[in-house]
Amino acid sequence: MNIRSVFQAARPQPVGTHDAFAADVIAGLTARPKTLPAKYFYDLAGSALFERITALPEYYPTRSEIAILREHAPAIASMFPPGSALIEFGSGSSRKARILLSAAASVAAYVPVDISGDFLQQDLIQLERDLPHLVVHPLVADFTKTFAIPAELAALPRVGFFPGSTIGNFEPAEAAAFLHHIGDMLGAGALLLVGVDLVKDEATLYRAYNDAAGVTAKFNLNLLARINRELGADFDLAAFVHRAFFNAAQSRIEMHLVSTRPQKVWINGIDIDFASGETIHTENSYKYTIESFQALARSAGWSPIEAFSDGLFAVHALRR
Ligand code: AVJ
Repeated sequence: MNIRSVFQAARPQPVGTHDAFAADVIAGLTARPKTLPAKYFYDLAGSALFERITALPEYYPTRSEIAILREHAPAIASMFPPGSALIEFGSGSSRKARILLSAAASVAAYVPVDISGDFLQQDLIQLERDLPHLVVHPLVADFTKTFAIPAELAALPRVGFFPGSTIGNFEPAEAAAFLHHIGDMLGAGALLLVGVDLVKDEATLYRAYNDAAGVTAKFNLNLLARINRELGADFDLAAFVHRAFFNAAQSRIEMHLVSTRPQKVWINGIDIDFASGETIHTENSYKYTIESFQALARSAGWSPIEAFSDGLFAVHALRR
């Protein structure tokens, strides 16, 4: 399989994506309280800003997870059945998978699944070069829905990989439903590795989402810039400010954009009114203890096998 040919086929954007964006934006901004789905943060500019976030001194999750994967790669690799397929849900870069794949010579195939098709092509080509025994088979699909495992890989034992605490963006009930769905797709006996951010002292959490350099604020505000760019809206970015805080009762970081004055915004022929101080809720990032996540996994049909942690972040190994 030549990866380049897969990419060429994958390039066109899925039909209807733009309409879905417009519909979700209008629905969110006409709701009370106003909301916008966090999945829309990641256009080209937003993905670049997120990359910068992962390198910030205050943003520990990415560094923690990578260090955990490095330290425990041999132990994790020893759980992989020989000749298995590593299926990654929502892979932007293959950086974390590479750590596991380099330690697990027995993995036969790597299947990164991403809706945007914006896989880092160079990274995947380099991965195939470095691990010549490995079949790299990127899939352009919405990983939250059912997708077909390529026929030539269908018989391989399956290991799922869902890093980055992306699962924290889901409501706990949605997270359980998603874990259940992954279990149905991967089948009995499958292994699943999930990266999950841990509950910790409020100051550390607060700083991770309120960095001194203001990159997280830019990342949040880019959502309005994207709506301006793609939907021709007229958000005044100078009239909204970033707000992030830990909601202890719900065990989540909330991100909001706060209107600093009364204003009217025009989007796609619709006027949206903002009161001074009114917020748009743009993201939840749920934090779990090791035990609370294991309980969630159990409720979704998975048996916790092990949790690898540095006290800040956890990588859970689960068995179906
Ligand atoms: C990619 C969802 C894990 O919640 O920490 C980072 C996104 N938002 N800074 C997170 C994010 C603000 C991130 N996740």
